[in-house]
Amino acid sequence: MDKMICPCKKVTRSDVLRAMAEGARTFKDIKKVTGAGSKCGKCEDDIRKLLKKHGKDQDKHKDKNKDKGKANKLEHHEQPIVVDALVLECRDAAALADFYATLLGWQRGHDAPGEWMDIVSPTGGTRLLFHQNADHLPPVWPPEPGAPQLQAHLDLAVKDKAAMRQAVELALSLGARLPEAQFGEDKWTTLIDPAGHPFCLVIG
Ligand code: FES
Repeated sequence: MDKMICPCKKVTRSDVLRAMAEGARTFKDIKKVTGAGSKCGKCEDDIRKLLKKHGKDQDKHKDKNKDKGKANKLEHHEQPIVVDALVLECRDAAALADFYATLLGWQRGHDAPGEWMDIVSPTGGTRLLFHQNADHLPPVWPPEPGAPQLQAHLDLAVKDKAAMRQAVELALSLGARLPEAQFGEDKWTTLIDPAGHPFCLVIG
C-alpha cells in the first residue's frame, strides 16, 4: 500500500518519488510541486530522508553554503573583496567536479546542469567551480610555443611523502595522468586532471 507521507496535503510516497523523477531535488522543490510540507510541516523530515535515500536533498548543501556565506560576510567586514571561487573550464563540469570532490573529500554544491557545477569544502572557504565549455582546449604540458598555454593551476598540499604517494595513486585511479615531465624533484608531483589541466601535489 502506498504510504501517506504528508497527511495534511494527502501526498503519498509515490507522489514524492514521481516529483523526484520529474526533477525535484530539494524539499523546497517537493513542497512546490506537491504541496507537501506547506501546512504543519511535520512531514519535512520524512521527505528529506526520502530525498537523501535517492541521492538528492541539495538543501543540505545550501545550508552549508549559507554558513559559508556567513563566514564570507564576516570576512567582508575586514576585507571588502574575498575570493569566492576558482573557476576551471572543461567539457564535462559534472565529471570534473566529481574528480576533485573525491580527490579532496569535498562535496558537490550547486549546479546548473550542462553549464556549471561547484564543489565545497566541509570547512567552507573558496569554492572550486567547473564551467562547461564544449570548445574547451586543455593546455599543453610541458608548455610548447604556439600551443594552448597554462593560464593557472592548482597546488594541492599533502603533509609528507607517504601522503603524496597515496594522493598520486588516488588521482590516477580517478582518471588523472602522470606526465613524464616532472620538475619538482620529490617535493612536487605534477599530474594532469581528466579535463587536461595540470595540477601539483606539494609537500608542505
Ligand atoms: S504533514 Fe505535511 S504539512 Fe502537515
